[in-house]
Amino acid sequence: MAETRVMKEKEPELTEAQIAVHWREEQYYYPSSKFIGQANLTDPAVMERFGEKNFPECFREYGDLLSWDQYWHTTLDTSDAPFWQWFVGGKLNVSYNCVDRHLEKHKNKAAFIFVSEMEDEPPVSITYQELYYRVNETAAMLRDYCGLKTGDRVTIHMPVVPELPITMLACARLGLVHSVVFGGFSGEACGMRAADSGSKVLVTIDGYYRGGNMTDHKEKADLAVATAAKEGTKVEKVLVWRREAKKYHSAKPMVAGRDFFVDEILKKYAGQIVAPVSMPSEAPLFLMYTSGTTGRPKGCQHGTGGYLSYVAGTTKFIQDLQPEDVYWCMADIGWITGHSYIVYGPLTLAATSVLFEGVPNYPDAGRPWRVAKRLNVNIFHTSPTAIRMLRKAGPDEPAKYDYHFKHMTTVGEPIEPEVWKWYYEVVGKGEAVIVDTWWQTETGGFMCSTKPGIDPMKPGSAGPPLPGIYPAIYDEEGKEVKPGSGKAGNICIRNPWPGMFQTIYGDRDRFVRQYYQKYNRDKNSKKWQDWPYFAGDGAVQAPDGYIRILGRVDDVINVAGHRLGTKEIESVCLTVNEIAEAAVVPVADEVKGRVPEVYVALKPGVASDGIEKKVIDAIETQIGKIARPKKVHVVPDMPKTRSGKIMRRVLAAISNSLDTGDVTTLANPDIVEQIRVMVQGDKKVVLKEAPEDLKHFGDER
Ligand code: WTA
Repeated sequence: MAETRVMKEKEPELTEAQIAVHWREEQYYYPSSKFIGQANLTDPAVMERFGEKNFPECFREYGDLLSWDQYWHTTLDTSDAPFWQWFVGGKLNVSYNCVDRHLEKHKNKAAFIFVSEMEDEPPVSITYQELYYRVNETAAMLRDYCGLKTGDRVTIHMPVVPELPITMLACARLGLVHSVVFGGFSGEACGMRAADSGSKVLVTIDGYYRGGNMTDHKEKADLAVATAAKEGTKVEKVLVWRREAKKYHSAKPMVAGRDFFVDEILKKYAGQIVAPVSMPSEAPLFLMYTSGTTGRPKGCQHGTGGYLSYVAGTTKFIQDLQPEDVYWCMADIGWITGHSYIVYGPLTLAATSVLFEGVPNYPDAGRPWRVAKRLNVNIFHTSPTAIRMLRKAGPDEPAKYDYHFKHMTTVGEPIEPEVWKWYYEVVGKGEAVIVDTWWQTETGGFMCSTKPGIDPMKPGSAGPPLPGIYPAIYDEEGKEVKPGSGKAGNICIRNPWPGMFQTIYGDRDRFVRQYYQKYNRDKNSKKWQDWPYFAGDGAVQAPDGYIRILGRVDDVINVAGHRLGTKEIESVCLTVNEIAEAAVVPVADEVKGRVPEVYVALKPGVASDGIEKKVIDAIETQIGKIARPKKVHVVPDMPKTRSGKIMRRVLAAISNSLDTGDVTTLANPDIVEQIRVMVQGDKKVVLKEAPEDLKHFGDER
């Protein structure tokens, strides 16, 4: 009956979200019997076990991977919807779960193996026993030297070196909330985040190796402290780790009474043990700042019990991490991938996790494969950008090294089927399964991926939802777009899950507005069914239920797998005196996926000399090199609607050689052709096949 009713319904007019998507569905690739024979998860009944009728109790299975000081009484509390609370009543400590509890069986096992970018520096293994001492001593310093108390925030601005996870775990031991800022971000960006979180302590390092050079990192700390002060937050102490013992790799002097070398302070705390503070499951564990649609980056606040159980469960079942494995995730710990899948997930399971300081192609594109061989890595995890880069720079390199992966992960951006196949055949040597994991800073852990021992893989497709995750693709009106319809829509998750972030730090309203308002059915409802989570990605579902992510539907640009807000970059451009208006659009890039391109219009009467450099400098100092635009176009005027709105869609079309569509209704239609000629030259090029996110960038939604 229901079927016929649906069929009789008149097909609604196509809305903007219902983009027709035409691509060839790829063939399935099947996991080998060798992989399946050893996999952690092979029982297809898992989907039923985690099905809606067993929700939320199904997630006990994840919670039970942890050691609780006090077991929870309520698995999911929805009374403060949509601020979901997981494992309520439970108490635990994250550093205890990641370190102490492994000492009995694994104290002599490497928790981390640190690989310096300098190839002549031998890798350093840190056993669980050694990690235990280092975390305790660092915790003693944070508590007794810095006077930090449970609930205080600590900003950490560091590259991938062992001292970064050690500091994170030391914070967790005391119930301090860490806020790790990606090392590549500028001092100002770090200072803004330190101010937003109200951090009195900044932990940093003197320098580190990047592309073969020692970079001066401490200089960023000085800028960060100055920026935070302007924002009204006094950073009282700056703790400076040293990349190399007894050396100091910064041109900037240590500020007396403010800056301290960690190694010198730690002498006082040598061998000290700090009791782990038993934290409520719902206590915040960390903040991770990320770009959203408007304004400043927002601090995504993750909790303790829910987050840790979710990353433990997904590391076990999707990463297939097992005690004998050597696991290498090449991401930076300064992003959510590093938090969940270099540090917290692997350590909760007592794994060996490789920490790599460097860039993948230094000194050459064979480096990752030499590391893999030497350390006997068998699980490898990276981004499409890194894969594209390695494929371009050294397509034949993997074959030269005798390493063998059983499992590989890709994360952070859509991966083109050709790139996927190179990853599979050349990097994985046809032996490794691939999981294409779709998720976000906000989601804490994977949302969509194949289950590696159960589901076949399909290049370019993230695959089905994870156990216990119930997605839906909605059109703009909140109507479900049917799988196999060939139409795209906005991907939402209908239910809460334990890894979901708790709130935007200090901004509950923005949390509700940004993630729930769009599809909420009743704002007073306490039922989770009324609160689908809006992820901000376009997606399409094939008839087999596999989900393909098309990219952001908002103003966020995914640069090399890193999220940047176009509005953020635009407001930086406006700090350049001569600039009257700025518009930032994504442009396709062969290696990085998307990169920003900047359009600026100048104030009347000012000269355009040197503007490009000024804009680039402003972006690099206020955000960081990752936001560096591909080009800066100084235009006579912006294409605008009659109401004065800048048509970013038209600029994105020009930058990407796409059809600009009908521009006759604009206030200044002639400017479009003028800009097009400036950017593309006289010969008009229009590409037919356009990625969905670029075609629709800047649409009103
Ligand atoms: C994108 C990174 C396609 C997506 C973990 C999302 C992906 C944003 C994939 C989150 C994937 C992540 N396929 N796109 N497998 N994984 N994305 O917060 O647009 O840095 O919204 O988290 O990256 O980026 P974030």
